[in-house]
Amino acid sequence: MTHTHPFDLALAADLSQASIDVTVVLDQLVQDAERAASTSVGYPGAVDLDHSAVMGRLGSRLWNNIGDPSDPGGTAHTRVLEQAVIAWVADLLAMPAGERWGYVTTGGTEGNLSALHAAYRRWPTARIYYSTAAHYSIPKVVGILGARGVAVEAGPDGEMDYTQLAAELRRRRRYPAIVVATAGTTMTEAVDDTTRIGAVLDEYGIRGHLHVDAALSGIPLALDGLLRLDDAVGSVAISGHKFLGIPTPCGVVLVRDRIRRIHGSHVAYTNSADTTITGSRCGLAAALLWHAIAVHGREGHRWRVAEARRLAEYTVERINATGWSAWRHPHAFTVVLPTPPIAVRNKWLLATDGPVSHLICMPGISRSQIHAFAADLAAAVTAPPPVPRPRTQTAAASRPEEPHDHHAEPQPAG
Ligand SMILES: Cc1ncc(COP(=O)(O)O)c(C=O)c1O
Repeated sequence: MTHTHPFDLALAADLSQASIDVTVVLDQLVQDAERAASTSVGYPGAVDLDHSAVMGRLGSRLWNNIGDPSDPGGTAHTRVLEQAVIAWVADLLAMPAGERWGYVTTGGTEGNLSALHAAYRRWPTARIYYSTAAHYSIPKVVGILGARGVAVEAGPDGEMDYTQLAAELRRRRRYPAIVVATAGTTMTEAVDDTTRIGAVLDEYGIRGHLHVDAALSGIPLALDGLLRLDDAVGSVAISGHKFLGIPTPCGVVLVRDRIRRIHGSHVAYTNSADTTITGSRCGLAAALLWHAIAVHGREGHRWRVAEARRLAEYTVERINATGWSAWRHPHAFTVVLPTPPIAVRNKWLLATDGPVSHLICMPGISRSQIHAFAADLAAAVTAPPPVPRPRTQTAAASRPEEPHDHHAEPQPAG
């Protein structure tokens, strides 16, 4: 159906109406998403994998993995697939077999909550250290736990300042420490060095826990052997809708079994152990993760990583060729650039934080999208400057033409 007037989706979807054309509403959602897809390059959801086999076969019934992944109970669940996913990710991260525990979460945030909750129960007087480049879920979790957080500066490239970390740890060395390292910071995809963090903890003889928030880069780095659950690391959280492009928010959390002092009380009514943050859990997500791993395997996913990094490198070159600047970390899909002019941002969905923006070459982003972006950037950069407005005495009129504010930015997708 084509609409000659702008379509008011909220009006069409208003449930107080006597009759609603549900097909029109659903079609409009799909149309809007499809229209936005070609210029949506700011958020890290891969779009190259086909999940329709799972959606088609399993999508129309409830699959509830309630309780612990090892529970046998319930009728329609996918816990066998969930256990296979956990084992695959744990193998990839070289997590010792006798120490494995984990489950499929609703995303990186729940993974961080589950891991930090377990660590904080084990070390209830710990201070929780994280860098200023850490995802906003980390200070949120610190608040939920009622813990004391310590924010450590990150450098301009997004990596934690280990000298400041050492100083903050030293100052509080009578308390245990829970340190959150990020593998793939949200803005620049920087990777904090767990070996250096572990060495600082050892140097001051501080007990505690090292958690890695690897929402974006966990699987790509583990495929390279660059991220391992070695002795220093106690837990890892990974998002499933980022590198694996699962079409529903989900993730995986792994926590060393010995960290979980309390292994969950038994719930009679569900005949399951209460080890997870939510009770009912999405069995469809576990099946989608399993399918994405089973169909492509390690080699297929390594190829996806290599292709995406190649495109990211190419993107840096193309942007630099326009006269604008761009850079990336060597392992990263993320290309960081000074925030482009508003004409570019109005068309392209980038992620912007004040003067810095990024686009992310996730698997499925094409060279032709990069060419189109670079062409728009070149046109905006070389366009004649706007005709100056008449001077007035008001402060507002003396503000720059393009304030780097957030309020006009689209909301993050993940
Ligand atoms: C580093 C990092 N951690 C955690 C998250 C949160 O993950 P989710 O959106 O899956 O809850 C994100 C999402 O962008 C992230 O970049």
